[in-house]
Amino acid sequence: MFGNLAKKIRGAAALLALLAAPLAFGDDPPPTPEELVKIRAANAECLSCHSEAGLKKPPKEGMDLKKLRSHLVHLDTFTASDHGQMACTKCHGDGYAEHPHAADAKDEMAECQDCHARKAMRIERQFDKSVHAENLSETFTCKTCHDAHTMALASKLRDPHKIVAQDNKICLDCHDSDLAFAKMAPDKKKRPPIDDIHDWLPNTRLHWKAVRCVECHTPTEDKLSLSHEIQNKDKAEKKCATCHSANSSLNARLYRHLQTEEQNKYGFLNSVMLSSSYVVGATRNPTLDKALIALFIATVLGVIGHGIVRIITTRLRRRKNHD
Ligand code: HEC
Ligand code: HEC
Ligand code: HEC
Ligand code: HEC
Ligand code: HEC
Ligand code: HEC
Ligand code: HEC
Repeated sequence: MFGNLAKKIRGAAALLALLAAPLAFGDDPPPTPEELVKIRAANAECLSCHSEAGLKKPPKEGMDLKKLRSHLVHLDTFTASDHGQMACTKCHGDGYAEHPHAADAKDEMAECQDCHARKAMRIERQFDKSVHAENLSETFTCKTCHDAHTMALASKLRDPHKIVAQDNKICLDCHDSDLAFAKMAPDKKKRPPIDDIHDWLPNTRLHWKAVRCVECHTPTEDKLSLSHEIQNKDKAEKKCATCHSANSSLNARLYRHLQTEEQNKYGFLNSVMLSSSYVVGATRNPTLDKALIALFIATVLGVIGHGIVRIITTRLRRRKNHD
């Protein structure tokens, strides 16, 4: 009976997803296979210059190759990105159809909000409260973080290591570079070295590879999606147990998309946590693992007898001193 109900709910969810799909696609329906062939052909025109191959064998003489070199688009990365099925000219306007490009071609650039009106409303509200929007000039925008050619949604990347690498690169490219930081920072503000700020966190570089900056620097209330409100440093997460416990909120956040997928596949929420392949916490941290096992053994032995308890406590004390 419950199986039936679950089936009905899944059926309804699938129908809803189907209805919502055209809306989710920017605000237009996704391209048909025929349209996609045309889009790819038109993009190949642009890439005949804007690619490594174009640079090596320019289809035209007398171009500014030095400039072109800093304007390359990598086809595979672009195709794998969220915008990989779009025509270049959807965002860049028609001024780029011919080369030399029109002098005012740049002015026709589409903004994120033009195509993502509904999402942008939610996100702008959060972004406007962030330290970057509040403390920095108008130059800090969506595009400062979002590379429209490369960025891919977490749910698309799937692998938590890839998600962390992509999202942390955004922050580190600026917070780990004096040059980039100075370009954005108010006058005379010096970049605090990222490892010094976080010196209370053991193994910082390993943490940068395993957990996103935004996990600690955004509010946690929103369970369904990542908040864009990067908060003031006083509000940042410092408690180890937030992540290093079997039921950590990190599971619910960084891996939330995996959970839903697994949920659809297996029909219950905790399967990813149970399979533990990506779970941090008790099962993933050898140091903490050992401490937990020691604690467990101590508890069991503690029941056995008074004499043993004494030995255990001295041992534990020694272990504690050792730590
Ligand atoms: C000309 C229209 C257009 C512009 C401009 C545009 N996008 Fe998109 N975007 C799309 C379309 C179409 C999709 C494709 C599919 C979809 O919605 O799943 C998409 C997908 C996405 C996705 C993945 C799906 C989702 O909605 O979450 C993200 C994230 C995204 N865009 C962010 C941005 C950001 C950030 C900017 C500004 C730098 C931007 N887009 C500019 C049209 C646009
Ligand atoms: C024949 C070669 C060629 C083709 C084809 C070409 N471009 Fe370019 N593009 C260039 C060169 C060279 C530059 C460097 C600056 C310049 O010469 O205008 C450039 C610059 C640009 C810039 C940067 C402009 C700026 O000042 O920030 C954009 C954006 C651009 N192209 C987009 C496109 C798009 C989109 C297409 C396809 C519709 C396209 N290009 C097709 C050669 C080409
Ligand atoms: C979803 C929108 C979108 C699509 C689709 C898109 N671009 Fe861009 N492109 C941008 C944005 C945003 C920038 C950054 C402009 C800025 O810095 O203000 C940019 C910058 C560029 C630049 C100049 C500077 C640089 O960083 O290289 C070139 C060249 C370029 N795009 C070419 C292309 C080509 C070729 C395609 C198709 C294969 C394409 N773009 C597809 C949004 C898009
Ligand atoms: C400080 C960097 C930063 C800025 C600024 C920023 N974003 Fe994001 N954005 C991210 C990161 C990191 C993600 C996470 C990617 C994921 O989880 O898929 C993301 C995810 C998204 C997504 C997909 C997830 C969702 O919640 O739907 C959209 C759409 C988006 N951003 C749009 C915007 C818009 C619009 C702006 C400007 C108002 C903006 N972003 C400004 C860093 C930024
Ligand atoms: C292009 C540069 C740039 C990028 C990208 C960027 N930041 Fe920043 N960020 C700054 C600058 C500059 C400041 C200093 C603002 C000030 O002190 O007025 C800052 C400040 C901060 C602060 C400090 C707030 C405080 O209380 O002093 C935090 C936290 C922060 N950023 C986190 C992030 C995270 C997380 C990301 C990635 C999602 C990110 N930043 C991306 C430039 C950047
Ligand atoms: C485990 C949680 C955690 C992670 C992960 C984390 N931070 Fe922090 N961050 C903090 C805490 C807590 C503070 C406040 C430290 C203090 O005040 O002593 C802080 C402070 C900061 C500051 C303020 C610097 C200052 O003093 O002006 C910046 C900027 C910052 N972090 C950026 C980042 C970036 C970029 C990343 C990703 C590479 C990151 N953080 C990852 C917890 C974290
Ligand atoms: C936002 C989440 C988060 C917070 C907060 C956090 N960590 Fe971690 N930590 C991780 C992740 C994820 C890993 C990588 C685990 C893995 O790869 O198995 C890690 C790894 C570690 C490791 C290395 C374990 C090994 O395999 O070598 C140590 C030690 C550690 N954390 C200690 C701490 C301490 C102490 C604190 C509090 C000061 C803390 N962590 C706070 C997420 C976090």
